[in-house]
Amino acid sequence: MCGIIGYIGDKKASDFLIEGLKRLEYRGYDSCGIATANEDKLSLRRVSGRVGLLEEAIEKKPVKGIVGIAHTRWATHGIPSEDNAHPHTDCKGEIVLVHNGIIENYTELKEKLLASGHKFKSETDTEVVIHLIEDKIKSFKAEMKNGEYETVFFKAFKKAIADIEGSFALAVLWSKCPDMLLSARLHSPLVIGLGKKENFVASDVSAFLKFTKKVVFLEDGEIALVRKNSVEYFNFAGKEIKKKSTDIKWDSSMAEKGGYKHFMLKEIHEQAESVENTIRGRLLPLEKDILKKEIGLSFKDIKSLDHVQIVACGTAYHAGLVAKYIFENFEIPTYVDFASEFSDRSKIIDKNTFLIAISQSGETADTLCAVREAKESGAKVLAITNTVGSSLTREADYVLYTHCGPEIGVASTKAFLGQLSAIYVLAIHIAVILKKISLKEAGKYVKELIKIPRFIEKLLSREDEMKRIADKYSTYEHFLFISRYVNFPIALEGALKIKEIAYVHAEGYAAGEMKHGPIAIIEKNMPVICIATNSKVIKLLAGNIEEAMARGAKIIAIVDEESKKHIKASEIIEVPKTLDMLSPLLNTIPLQIFAYYIALNKKCDIDKPRNLAKSVTVR
Ligand code: AGP
Repeated sequence: MCGIIGYIGDKKASDFLIEGLKRLEYRGYDSCGIATANEDKLSLRRVSGRVGLLEEAIEKKPVKGIVGIAHTRWATHGIPSEDNAHPHTDCKGEIVLVHNGIIENYTELKEKLLASGHKFKSETDTEVVIHLIEDKIKSFKAEMKNGEYETVFFKAFKKAIADIEGSFALAVLWSKCPDMLLSARLHSPLVIGLGKKENFVASDVSAFLKFTKKVVFLEDGEIALVRKNSVEYFNFAGKEIKKKSTDIKWDSSMAEKGGYKHFMLKEIHEQAESVENTIRGRLLPLEKDILKKEIGLSFKDIKSLDHVQIVACGTAYHAGLVAKYIFENFEIPTYVDFASEFSDRSKIIDKNTFLIAISQSGETADTLCAVREAKESGAKVLAITNTVGSSLTREADYVLYTHCGPEIGVASTKAFLGQLSAIYVLAIHIAVILKKISLKEAGKYVKELIKIPRFIEKLLSREDEMKRIADKYSTYEHFLFISRYVNFPIALEGALKIKEIAYVHAEGYAAGEMKHGPIAIIEKNMPVICIATNSKVIKLLAGNIEEAMARGAKIIAIVDEESKKHIKASEIIEVPKTLDMLSPLLNTIPLQIFAYYIALNKKCDIDKPRNLAKSVTVR
């Protein structure tokens, strides 16, 4: 997730752009840049670092102009560096562009553009778009001769975006057309700010809310042609459309959180996008060697794999536990360890070990230490991480990114679902390559996985149901989370969430294990949350629930349309039905919301819980 902003008016563009970037920094902050046009001259400043560094660069060497674009980056393709920072320019340095999203077909486009002589300066996917626009402009020679630059710019922009696949929010500026900015939106947010003799384009309203609260939200498939006194809207076919403006009621700090009270709640609501962006372009067509293309993991590397060893901490460890069920469902032996324990346990690691390190931050000391030890014993390491350029990415042999954008809340939510999504992508491909499942069987998982983001959106729209239950149980001091099989790790994750943000004692336990001792802690009215969506163990799970109820427990059950007929409970939360193996992606969400509202009722510091850090960089 990155932040983009554009300004066109009659004041100094760089003042508005820098202010806007500061407001957008929560969306990404590993590098940033700005470009302005002064008459027909473009000025460009980019830094590898935070917006403050860019501000200093501009103080030293100002950029002139009353129109400009700027960007703050969360790297997805290409490490954080000045060359990879946006805005990107065409070969002649006359056109500049900023982008938020992922260009899925950038390798094919880049090959064609390189073949036709374009010179690239970055490793990013984004840069293909600016060269595509440059290429299309060249094809309108006649209009160019007549100096119809604005017509050419619009037509070239329209043709270029028609060629790109993936997700994008774009803002583009051509030095020959300093009276207009072009922007377009597909699967990445883009909003227009309507000022007095000035207008804005941005990823979200927080970027310009200080200057105007009158906005127009672009929808997917829409273009905005922005001048200082007017904005025209078109669909991707170039047909003009009418758009209504909205007056925003939020203040700036709420705007940074997208109108949510906390980053954690905002990030819970970003999970459909996190899953979609993490699986996008990585599942179809299965036979295409996507893992080789994207992360360098070849058929040969995988064919020699005889078991998987996973190391991780906290929530990432719970993702690793789910991974064990997924890989072993495909008959791939898998071991999972707390990274902190792995380093002290005598371990049989050798060159046949395929070690997967899962870490949102890529800086967790325990995980890094485990990775280093495994590499010393000859293991190959694949990192699943959300942070480009992190230490883990430099130590691993392969890196599979979760495209969730920065996760600000200390309690991990969207990154967890991103980790699960990356695990499904990896496991399906490995299982097909090792011939553990047929392409047809793999297609069943892919078909269902693609539906998950919509299921998540449907589930999130029922947040109030989960809030009502959380309100009812906010004064309880002990909680038990139980489940079996692939949702046992989700019971652990639900317990961790409520511990870390509401400071309430909670245990996650294997439901089948309760009768071997832990059931003794159940007292009358003790809340027992049971993840009981349908699976081959639902009857056993129904029995475990009965055992708890017989001791006076209050059951809060997460069910689906099939399992609910087996389950008795005081509270029922129904989630959309999906494949057993994919159910953790949905079952986690009610538990996140449950923990959030209990913590809210207890007036906890939800985004920054006591004693915790977002990344634990000490052992
Ligand atoms: C989860 O909500 C916690 N913030 C914590 O357990 C976290 O998952 C753990 O510290 C691992 O962090 P990482 O994914 O950045 O390695």
